[in-house]
This record gives sequence, structure tokens and C-alpha cells, in this order.
Amino acid sequence: MIDIQTQFVKNVLEGAGLSLKDSGSAFAPSNIALSKYWGKRDPELNLPINSSLSISLGNLGTKTKIRLADADSVSLNGTPVDLNDGFAIRTLEFLKLFPMVGTHFEVRTENNIPTAAGLASSASGFAALVLALNDLAGWELGGRMLSMLARLGSGSASRSIFEGFVQWHAGNCDDGSDSFAEPFSKPWNEFRIGILELSNARKPVGSRDGMNRTVQTSELYKSWPAQANRDIETIRTAIHTQDFPTLGKAAENNALAMHATMMSAWPPLLYLQPESIEMIHQVQRVRAEGLEVYLTIDAGPNIKLLFLEENESQVAAAFPRLQVIQPFG
Ligand code: DP6
Repeated sequence: MIDIQTQFVKNVLEGAGLSLKDSGSAFAPSNIALSKYWGKRDPELNLPINSSLSISLGNLGTKTKIRLADADSVSLNGTPVDLNDGFAIRTLEFLKLFPMVGTHFEVRTENNIPTAAGLASSASGFAALVLALNDLAGWELGGRMLSMLARLGSGSASRSIFEGFVQWHAGNCDDGSDSFAEPFSKPWNEFRIGILELSNARKPVGSRDGMNRTVQTSELYKSWPAQANRDIETIRTAIHTQDFPTLGKAAENNALAMHATMMSAWPPLLYLQPESIEMIHQVQRVRAEGLEVYLTIDAGPNIKLLFLEENESQVAAAFPRLQVIQPFG
């Protein structure tokens, strides 16, 4: 496993200089996919079956500081993390891919994503780690290369290298050299995302295992890659023309179609909780009354609402516990 990844890292770093500093630091935003990544064609190089498209969450994300040390240590929001904890293990395993930088690291991670928001921190976490490494090692890599390194940590992290709207191209090559993310389009200042935190309980099956199970056992999954491709095109065009209803419909349909593939896996994957279903109905109710609001859901129970600034007060009134995010600051 490590060998293929190590070779990939070597290929990405070919031609990059090494000019070590005392420490490296960086920030990366969290992101929410409007057209989801679900399914891997290569688990070692973390290559997806389908492309995906996301929006980064402005100044909400992860700040990471890294330095070479005599022994490994990891902290999260100022508190030391046990090295047997899953977060520390994933972080340090990832850093083992970079022996040319060092063997032991001190990693300080700060997440400013509201902890209750139920947003994945692995995307911004691995993106910030790669950006901090780039700073520490003085590689001066471009965004495309950085996104490919972040991809090895977590697929969605490839998109968190960039701000705004981002597409992660699935690519076709077996060596992973054409599977990278890139930003597109100008800012859409009126765009709003609302987080409805329904549960912050640890999910029983993580995304990684969930998507593998879906690919292996779901009959419905066969139609997913084509749907994802169509949705990306629809959403890209809607972003360029600032056609919010078209974007919202495609994003909501995409998320629910992904959940249909999960539910049709075996054993079934049901990430939605009773309150999630209640909120899906509530979104449909207020939309039927004329409010332009749509939803998206990742591999968990929490609902994310999509709407425009002009409807913010009405959406907040209809969903009292809403946390509103302005992705373009
Ligand atoms: C449902 O990026 O967490 O949020 O590559 O295995 O680390 P790994 O998976 P991850 O999966 C994210 C899945 C999703 C959809 C998305 O963000 O596109």
C-alpha cells in the first residue's frame, strides 16, 4: 500500500526543490459537495469513480502548524491527542509518505468549524496539512499538485486546497496523475449555506467503508456515475449563469440519489435519522409555499440548506436552529 503511495508522492514532487524552514503553517477551508464523490476506483491512490463539485466555506476550516521534532506529537484545538487515537494515527500515517521532509513531526491543528456543525473536518484537515508541509519543505507546489497530495489523505481534501467553487476531476489514468481539483467561476456573494445540526453522534459506518460497501453491493450504484456527470454539468452551468433554482434542484437531487445508493447497499446504509427525514419534509413544505431553499446531505444525519441572501431571514424563521455560513465572506 505504502509503496504505491510513496511512488506517487515521488512523482508529484519530481522537480520540486527542498528548502526546509523551522516550521510551516497554513489554513484550508472546509467544503460541501454540491455534486458528491461516492465510490473509489482505486483505494490506494484514492481515485474516485466520479468527479465531484463543491463549494468551500470561506474562513471556516482548519489551521495547521507543523515542525520537525524528535518524537511525534499531535494536538487538536490546543489539547494533546493520544497517539493511538484515530485522528493522530491518520495524521502520522500520512506524514510517513514524506520521509524526505523528516521522520518525526509536531502537528498542531486548530479547527474553527463549529464543532457541533457536523461538518467533516478531514477535508480541511488534510488540505491544511499538505499546505503546511509545502510551507515547511519549501516545495512551492502549484494547486493541482497540492490537491493530488491532499487526495491521498482524503478524497474531499483535494477540493479544500481551493476557495470558492471547485471541481475534482476523477481522471482516467491508473497512475492518478490526472485526478486533481481546480477552482472555477467567480465569487457568488449572495450564496448562503445553512447547517442544521441534528446529531453529532459518531456515525456507525464512515464514508470510506460506506462507499466501498455501496460500490460492491448496490444495484442502484450502477446508475450513479452517469447521474454525477450530468449533475456536475448542470451545476457548473447554473453557477456561470447564477441560476439558483437550477443549481438547488440538481444539488438536492444529487444528494438524495447518493443516499438511495447507500440504502440499496447490503447491509443497508441508512445515515438519515428521524429528524433528518422531518427536515427533508420541512424543506419540501416551505418550498411548496414559494421559498427558494434546497438541501444537501453527506454521509451523516445532518442537513445543509442552500439559499440566497435575499431569503436568509425567511429561511432562518422556518428553521430556528440554523447556523448560516457565507462561503464568500
Ligand atoms: C459523502 O472524502 O471523507 O462527503 O476519500 O475515503 O477519505 P475518503 O472519503 P471522504 O468522502 C466524502 C464523501 C461525501 C461526499 C463528498 O464530500 O463529495
